[in-house]
Amino acid sequence: MRIERELAGLRAATGAWRAAGQRIGLVPTMGALHDGHLALVAEARRQADVVVTSIFVNPLQFAPTEDLDRYPRDEAGDLAKLAAAGCDLAFLPTPAVIYPPGDTCVIDPGAKPGSPAEGWEGDARPGHFRGVATVCCKLFMMAQADVAVFGEKDWQQLQVVRRMVADLLLPVTIQGLATVRDADGLAMSSRNQRLSGEERGQAAALPALLARCGEALAAGQPVEAALAEGRAALAAAGFTPDYLALVQPASLKPWPVGQVGAARLLVAARLGDIRLLDNIPVLVPSARG
Ligand code: PAF
Repeated sequence: MRIERELAGLRAATGAWRAAGQRIGLVPTMGALHDGHLALVAEARRQADVVVTSIFVNPLQFAPTEDLDRYPRDEAGDLAKLAAAGCDLAFLPTPAVIYPPGDTCVIDPGAKPGSPAEGWEGDARPGHFRGVATVCCKLFMMAQADVAVFGEKDWQQLQVVRRMVADLLLPVTIQGLATVRDADGLAMSSRNQRLSGEERGQAAALPALLARCGEALAAGQPVEAALAEGRAALAAAGFTPDYLALVQPASLKPWPVGQVGAARLLVAARLGDIRLLDNIPVLVPSARG
């Protein structure tokens, strides 16, 4: 596996692949790789001829109060996993490569009303999606990617990236991949490493309670009642819920009362000082009775 840290080396590799008619798949990551990331690499391999994985802990998507310094890092372990997974090129830029000194441009995915960046993570982490959109746009262009693969675990992020690609007319296809879960159902996340043993045991209740709420909604329980019960159940299981919300899958707007069809149920909840995210699809039926 080739390892590049500078734009020139990345461009030389991807330029040669493109000239040879090969499709380039990109998996953007922040490292601390787990099986969820490796599933993204496998999907990129299915979608493209060559796979580039970026590892960059993006300072622009962390608020000053957030855990940038505590974000887990394991470069040697990550590179070994990527090589074993059949990644062709690992791109590990420094902040100065992504954000040239003196830079002044960012992408604001919430610049116009109606953006999928509004609400939920957008409220909990002001500026977060500006950082995500900016780095993803740069990585797409730097890698000359034909397709970029993102996990559905960060559902709102996936919708923000899709909207940005459509709005900026970027020549890349965004491919989502179903959330990869541990055996007990917890969605894989680099942040799970920071749960204590006891918290890790408790954390399995999150996907279970999310599924229970989803079943109640799919069985026709009124949305507000099902969400209120779900929030109470999360609190009783030791979580501090940030939100539990039923939304329209692409716009992230709250699910309209009485609407029938495919919705997304989102949750963000804290366990100790770790914030866990998850989401599932829900088919909302017509009202009972
Ligand atoms: O999901 C992540 O790991 C990050 O938000 C991403 C997409 C790599 C951008 O930094």
